[in-house]
Amino acid sequence: MRFHILTFGCQMNVADSDWLSQALISRGWTESAEEDAQVFLVTTCSVREKPEQKVYSLLGRLKGYADRDPAVFVGVGGCVAQQIGEEFWNRFPFVRLVFGTDGTAMVPQALERLVEDPALRVSLLDFLDHYPEREQPEEGRVGAQAFVNIMQGCDNFCAYCIVPFTRGRQKSRSSDAIAAECESLVRRGARELTLLGQNVNSYGQDGHGDGTTFASLLRRISAIPGLARLKFTTSHPKDIAPEVVAAFGELPNLSPQLHLPVQSGSDAMLKSMGRKYTRERYLGIVRDLRAACPHIALTTDIIVGFPGETQRDFEDTLELMRQVRYESSFSFKYSDRPGVRAEKMNFKVPEEEKARRLAVLQDLQNRITAEELESRVGAEVDVLVEGTSRMQDGAALFWRGRDGGGRIINFPSPLPDLTGKMIRVRILAAKKHSLTGETRGEPW
Ligand code: SAH
Ligand code: SF4
Ligand code: F3S
Repeated sequence: MRFHILTFGCQMNVADSDWLSQALISRGWTESAEEDAQVFLVTTCSVREKPEQKVYSLLGRLKGYADRDPAVFVGVGGCVAQQIGEEFWNRFPFVRLVFGTDGTAMVPQALERLVEDPALRVSLLDFLDHYPEREQPEEGRVGAQAFVNIMQGCDNFCAYCIVPFTRGRQKSRSSDAIAAECESLVRRGARELTLLGQNVNSYGQDGHGDGTTFASLLRRISAIPGLARLKFTTSHPKDIAPEVVAAFGELPNLSPQLHLPVQSGSDAMLKSMGRKYTRERYLGIVRDLRAACPHIALTTDIIVGFPGETQRDFEDTLELMRQVRYESSFSFKYSDRPGVRAEKMNFKVPEEEKARRLAVLQDLQNRITAEELESRVGAEVDVLVEGTSRMQDGAALFWRGRDGGGRIINFPSPLPDLTGKMIRVRILAAKKHSLTGETRGEPW
């Protein structure tokens, strides 16, 4: 059978899609272009209204294929599937499978049954009370960068957020299973591993793990021979342990970068968002991180126009951004989500005002990003090469990769294939969102 996967949303959906693709290929299926697919899988996101809308317009487009060939069908997974569930069958009859995150492990078998029996529909939406292990391939080369799930779900119920409803309660995966997957990936060619979860700092604190804390998990994975880089995402500031902060100064292959979503710089907003930290506490964590690792690259998520946000609250966020000087940030206009606490809050900020605040914030971030990138000129950094660059100019072939801080670096090299290699680069110039440089020495 030929399948095609379309992925929306966060890294966890990307990881789920990657796993589905591998699992189907190992069962003899073939990944194909959209036009040739017999089965479509869509992993969906409902964190804001816009990504949710994208799913419906995509399904409108896929209907065209199903109309032409009635054997073609679609499986919808991820957060919109969990939210809308079997409703999908009424709106889009060619959707014959809906699955949530906990159901992903069973999707390959379900697809085989759906192919055999054209009258069947399957729903895999139940939340389990343990982390559902998925079959792991033991052989076959993998790319230089790999993602490893360490937990599922979230218990925080931030007032604006739908994730705890769509991903269920937090469930840590056993540290032995995580280590086994990481070791296998490194053996099969991974140079960089990213540990994934909605709130990795509370790994092991949900009664589903095996007593391992996140800090000791980091130490264990970092010690895998041959692992060049270790990263993790996402971190909730309220749960970051001093041992994790210290790890940035202690573990040589732990990348000097941290995505630490702040959401707002106003204590009043943090309180009504239910984030459980203050601006002062957040800034204290930033200070400690920089003491442990002076060049750590910090990035964040920010919401503007949360219900009740005044101009003054917004200015507190701008001021915090000036103080922390993030390398980059993802910023969003608050978006009402069905069933979350903020949906019922008063003093909603008008759409035009949210748009204005977002533009002001992004303008400030762009200036800081440019200054921070400029300050890297002259540095020598190790780059993990991701592929050829979109930026080609003149005779030499340009390559693209990232330094330990996650910054994009373009550089020319006549070497035949650098993808997946590490190479030392001297930074020569800064562009708007990236750096350019020249190589120093041989790749490894
Ligand atoms: N677990 C991660 C984030 C998951 S959602 C964490 O806690 O950091 C990614 C980001 O989407 C959030 O950090 C937040 O900035 C944004 N977001 C979530 N719900 C939103 C909403 N209703 N409106 C606007 N942005 C939202
Ligand atoms: Fe959403 Fe908050 Fe959980 Fe992050 S920590 S997924 S923002 S509820
Ligand atoms: Fe979106 Fe679900 Fe991830 S809502 S951000 S796909 S957890």
